[in-house]
Amino acid sequence: MGWLSMYIPLWLGLMVVMSKWKWVSGIGANCGTQATHPLPPDTVVTMLNANKIQKVKLFDADYATLRALGKTNIEVMVGIPNDMLSILATSMKAAEKWVSKNVSTHMTNNNVNIRYVAVGNEPFLETYNGSFLSTTFPALQNVQSALIKAGLSNQVKVTVPLNADVYESSTGLPSGGDFRSNIHDLMLTIVKFLSDNGAPFTVNIYPFISLYTDPNFPVEYAFFDGNASPLNDGGTYYYNMFDANLDTLSWALQKNGFGNLPIIIGEIGWPTDGDKNANLDYAQRFNQGFMTHISGGKGTPMRPGPIDAYIFSWIDEDAKSIQPGNFERHWGLFYYDGSAKYQLNLGTTNSNSYLIPANNVHYQERKWCVMKPSVHLDDSGIASAVSYACANADCTALGYQTSCGSLDSRGNISYAFNSFFQKNNQMDTACKFEGLATQTKTDPSLGTCKFPVMIQAYYSGGQRLLGYLTKQLALVSAAGLIIFLLEIL
Ligand SMILES: *[C@@H]1O[C@H](CO)[C@@H](O)[C@H](O)[C@H]1NC(C)=O
Ligand SMILES: *[C@@H]1O[C@H](CO)[C@@H](O)[C@H](O)[C@H]1NC(C)=O
Ligand SMILES: *[C@@H]1O[C@H](CO)[C@@H](O)[C@H](O)[C@H]1NC(C)=O
Repeated sequence: MGWLSMYIPLWLGLMVVMSKWKWVSGIGANCGTQATHPLPPDTVVTMLNANKIQKVKLFDADYATLRALGKTNIEVMVGIPNDMLSILATSMKAAEKWVSKNVSTHMTNNNVNIRYVAVGNEPFLETYNGSFLSTTFPALQNVQSALIKAGLSNQVKVTVPLNADVYESSTGLPSGGDFRSNIHDLMLTIVKFLSDNGAPFTVNIYPFISLYTDPNFPVEYAFFDGNASPLNDGGTYYYNMFDANLDTLSWALQKNGFGNLPIIIGEIGWPTDGDKNANLDYAQRFNQGFMTHISGGKGTPMRPGPIDAYIFSWIDEDAKSIQPGNFERHWGLFYYDGSAKYQLNLGTTNSNSYLIPANNVHYQERKWCVMKPSVHLDDSGIASAVSYACANADCTALGYQTSCGSLDSRGNISYAFNSFFQKNNQMDTACKFEGLATQTKTDPSLGTCKFPVMIQAYYSGGQRLLGYLTKQLALVSAAGLIIFLLEIL
């Protein structure tokens, strides 16, 4: 055999491999919808495009969001929330419907570039007490079967975004990595399934949470500046937690025979408020450090090469549960209104280090709700009014060393009242608090503490339709009334 005929198949093979791995480099973004006043999906998609984000990860399959993404070539990971796992686990029909409605339709009719389906979100988190242990794998199988049936299994891959707590290290070193003992067999079943179907392992890694939960965690080790004293794993040195954590997973996979399974970093990021370590400086330092760290494509000692990651998150979400901590509503690179929090070079554009904010944002009126100056601090109604406001709005920027941590008592109370007022679209009735509150046109913001003016509510398709119908109904009944009056007169 001549050298040419020997090399052509090799060369063709390489081309096939290369075209199969149309891997979009560059950072992805997590986009959630748990906000009281989300920006319109078209605005968000315009921001993603402006910042040259080529991949997004969603937590559900919101119709309006997917529709907006259909106008772009952005790669999409759609999500199945945990509360749908049990129905998808037990009913193949439900899985087929889900795939048909939330994947096929969008790919066929709206041209959405769906590449992954995330089955569940961190379903094995220890705080869920095992609620999703028996449903996750069957749901994964059914969704995969539904994708095959729909003829999409080559383009769309399944995965399960997992928290890094699904693995651990008995030695504290990456090389000691293995899956958590109480879910070891289940993890291997899932990993084998992913491997058999050419699907990736997805993991969320959070140095911030380590710092939040462990007061003795060495701060520098959370960052990428190389200032921490390194971890020596048999001559391999780890200078930051991200590398060590990812390699703990790499070892766990390798030890169990899946050393080549692709890994996606489903979430990585740093919050900016709600905790003493959640601030703009640390968030900027972490996210920029991460971007620079992965930009060379060097990877980790166990996984050399480019890292496929999605930043958490794109925009703040003020309706998220604060059960994990007050920082939970502040992970965004952008505030609720799409304004950038800090400078960040995402490496997507080589020209500048600025995040491009949303434009054409519609705010509500420039007015605020504050504690009435004439009310005394010892008024007996205040405590319950404040706790009502905070329970129903968002007071996570109040607290020790947070953005509004240095307000005085009056400022605290006003902050709570204003949050409730803005959340309720500045309705007059939302600034009463039994005579304790009043509206003002003077911005009460002070230093780092911003009293927000909410943006106008965006109505999704269904809600818009409802509004339209209500208006039509009103018109019809008004017309009816006129006809009725004309007739009786
Ligand atoms: C499609 O996804 C949406 C949003 O996550 C969900 O509410 C809906 O039930 C799904 N449709 C089907 C047919 O499962
Ligand atoms: C898990 O168990 C703890 C303690 O029993 C309980 O407080 C918590 O609400 C449970 N969480 C879930 C998601 O069931
Ligand atoms: C303001 O509220 C925060 C959070 O509730 C509290 O920690 C702080 O002590 C309050 N400050 C004053 C001066 O009341």
